[in-house]
Amino acid sequence: MRKSLSTLILFMILCMLFLTPAYQAEAASNGLAETPPMGWNSWNKFGCNVSENMIKEMADAMVSSGMKDAGYQYVNIDDCWQTDREPTTGKIVADPVRFPSGMKALADYVHSKGLKLGLYTDVGFKTCGGRPGSRGYYDIDAKTYAEWGIDYVKVDWCYVDPDGKLLNYGAKPDAATWYSEFGEALKNSGRGIVFSICNWGEQSPWDWGPQIGNLWRTGQDIGDAWERGTNWYYGIINAYDVAVNHSASAGPGGWNDPDMLEIGNGGATNVEYRSQFSLWSMLAAPLIAGNDLRSMSQETKDILMNKEVIAVNQDPLGVQATKIIDNGDIEILVKPLSNGDKAIALLNRGAQSAKISVTAAEAGLPASEGYIVRDLWQHFSKGSTGTIKADVPSHGTAMFRVSPATIDNLPASLDMTIAASSGQIQSGKSAELTATLHNDGVKDVTKAAISLQLPSGWTAAPLSSTSFERVAADQTVSAKWSVTAPSDAVGVKDIGVTATYEDVDGIKQLQSSQRFNVLPPDGTIYVSDMEPQDSTNGWGPIEKDMSNGEASKGDGKTITIKGVPYNKGIGTNAASSITYNIDGKFDSFISDVGIDDEVSGRGSVTFEVWGDGKKLWDSGLIKAASSTIGAEVNVKGVKLLKLVVTDGGDGNAYDHGDWAGARLTATAQESKGAVLEGPDQAAAGTTFDLSYGLSGMDQNVYAQDLTFRYDPSQVEFVSAESVNSDAVVIVDKAQKQDEVRLLAATIGSNAKLEGDLLKLHWKVKSNTAATASTITLSKAVMADGTGVETELDSKSYTLQINSVDKAALLALITDAQGKHDAAVEGSSAGQYPAGSKAALQAAIDQAKAVADNTAATQAQVEQAINALTAALQTFTDSVITTEPGDTNGDGRYSIGDLAIIAAAYGKTSADPNWSSYKKSDLNNDGKIDIEDLSAIARKILE
Ligand code: GLA
Repeated sequence: MRKSLSTLILFMILCMLFLTPAYQAEAASNGLAETPPMGWNSWNKFGCNVSENMIKEMADAMVSSGMKDAGYQYVNIDDCWQTDREPTTGKIVADPVRFPSGMKALADYVHSKGLKLGLYTDVGFKTCGGRPGSRGYYDIDAKTYAEWGIDYVKVDWCYVDPDGKLLNYGAKPDAATWYSEFGEALKNSGRGIVFSICNWGEQSPWDWGPQIGNLWRTGQDIGDAWERGTNWYYGIINAYDVAVNHSASAGPGGWNDPDMLEIGNGGATNVEYRSQFSLWSMLAAPLIAGNDLRSMSQETKDILMNKEVIAVNQDPLGVQATKIIDNGDIEILVKPLSNGDKAIALLNRGAQSAKISVTAAEAGLPASEGYIVRDLWQHFSKGSTGTIKADVPSHGTAMFRVSPATIDNLPASLDMTIAASSGQIQSGKSAELTATLHNDGVKDVTKAAISLQLPSGWTAAPLSSTSFERVAADQTVSAKWSVTAPSDAVGVKDIGVTATYEDVDGIKQLQSSQRFNVLPPDGTIYVSDMEPQDSTNGWGPIEKDMSNGEASKGDGKTITIKGVPYNKGIGTNAASSITYNIDGKFDSFISDVGIDDEVSGRGSVTFEVWGDGKKLWDSGLIKAASSTIGAEVNVKGVKLLKLVVTDGGDGNAYDHGDWAGARLTATAQESKGAVLEGPDQAAAGTTFDLSYGLSGMDQNVYAQDLTFRYDPSQVEFVSAESVNSDAVVIVDKAQKQDEVRLLAATIGSNAKLEGDLLKLHWKVKSNTAATASTITLSKAVMADGTGVETELDSKSYTLQINSVDKAALLALITDAQGKHDAAVEGSSAGQYPAGSKAALQAAIDQAKAVADNTAATQAQVEQAINALTAALQTFTDSVITTEPGDTNGDGRYSIGDLAIIAAAYGKTSADPNWSSYKKSDLNNDGKIDIEDLSAIARKILE
């Protein structure tokens, strides 16, 4: 008996321990979230600042932006919507000021849009924001939600200590028990409500969450950053790192939740945001956007609404990806899909871009003679015989969907890259860009054409053919352009390149782009105008051209150290580290460093400059009282520049370290070769000269073969002449329509040429509609006295075509000149006073100067028209209308005229009414006296 009793007790204990934990007995699938939930939540962007209007607007935006069509449906209100409980019923009360119509009305509104409404509460006594929690009210709350029509509830884990006093400390209860009680209440509420468990990965929710809820948070709150640095919250990559380990727990109805999306919030780069979307999709994680849906950039929309990536996330098989390769910086994930395809993600955590590849066999695909590899970000399929590979930028993730296929059905596989031959582009200058297209597949493609997509204001002139009849398997072709950046283009610029070609099944397009740091002509670039490859910061993100406000992007002030304001620079809060890929292009890093005045005398930091992993400079310990330190660091050859601010060893409070005026300088390299120079602009119909010369030559040049390419609809080649008496130039008569070839020969001892050599005369076509035209020296071969030929780099020159309308000005000048020339100076009626013609001529000459100035703006032309119109009016008004002396204007000299003059006797030009007496001043000497009386008397007597 004793034995059987103890056996029974042991059996019961075993059952409790292993077989039927309390929560498992209560939990049953609610049939919801068969695929990971998709929606939006207020917390990441708005925190406690929630309201009925904002939620309605967000629901509207979810529809109008296309998010609903892409699959998003839950509109979730996070913390701070609730204020207290009704004293008698215990029912939760929504903030009557922020939600005046109540939750039921709001749910009705959201449902009318075809969407669903979610709320937030806490399994403890209070929410993290200090609002009433649900402990003790699980049933009442669940019923209230059901009554309101709520479809989703996120349940947090604050204030769960026995006294309900502590936000997140002290002894905690068994999470599985409390959450299963909440789940039970939801089940009994009479409405299907998605249950989101949010206990931050504590007590291994991946073990018990699947039996209780539809999703469970796997870790700490996410922040808007790639990496957490010393912050309490997780960066994107830290949140991923936890969730990726719990694939086995996820499946239809229950998902690992690495927290919400930060895409579009600005603290990470778009490459990093694309990674978040890729990784979350691979992990079959909930896709809950956390940005402002009312104002999304195109890039944000392209990420959040990438339907091919969403299809991987929402695949009905519901299997979370597993990591099949992890070698530190590179990780490869594979997610099996319901139709037998595999989704493959190639993640590059490193600071440099990386070539990553994996074989179909490694990814678990069945053996096949070929595979179709669909790039889910480039929306493009390639054929492969077994390797899936990509160039992945730092912090980027490439994502593919791979299916086995026969060789006959494989699409082409092309790779395209773009590079500047000097590696560097300067504003206002030309650089040679080469796009290289490689056929990496097993099939030829035909009719390939490559084109560039440049930022606005840039121009490109081809230096080679840009289309190719056939690109055979394994063949590489390239197209070259001379690209000119406008003089105000400085900093990070993207240049796109597109190839179109014909494949087995029609016309295809391949796109790629490359980021260049465009340097100003003096070779200096502010670091804040460049995009860092990577950055971490103690509080909030690093700030460009402002101090660090510690919270969100753009919240700083003018950088100020010791009362000196700086327009440019980087504002940090220790501990901070910023990495730039400068690719060996610069000579010096120059900056003032110090603690920003805004922390009023507190804080202590050390600034460090690192190059390729080696410390190049440090400031020593700097306190707010220290004087500003100027750093000038040699960075010749440095590829990765890292700017570090440490906390000075005493924690990072008030450590606002400013890199004030931080810049990189490069000595302009003396270019060896051809120099093309001409005016910046010219008007349609006018001529201009282009000078051609050589620079940096260290050899004698006896002969040159030069070919200039141009657009004949824009400009016309007129002639060429030598500006050096020892050189002759011969223009090839057999010119092509868009090309002119010149042969230049130099005789005698001046053969070592520097500076100008030839002058080429050109004309802008008068009927061209172009606003700019590029002339390219596409071929330049020179030979020394021994006949050795050297090919020089191509050069191009861009002329802005001035489309200023001068017709009205030219017509006015002709009119004014005509009037001037016809006018006679004298004192008789119809004549003009002495000096008036000269005044008009001066005005005409000024107007002509504007008309002749090819650089004149439309405003200057208008001004010239106004000035000449006024001068012409003054001139016209000055015509003498009456005979002098006929003061009463009756057409004869009479005693009446003598009377008027006599009445004005003694008046001088100083008199305020002189204008009415002036006609009596017959000898024009500024006074009315006896001479005037005599003059009229003589005329009467004549
Ligand atoms: C916790 C959660 C967050 C958010 C806030 C609201 O920190 O983890 O997701 O809901 O509370 O106070």
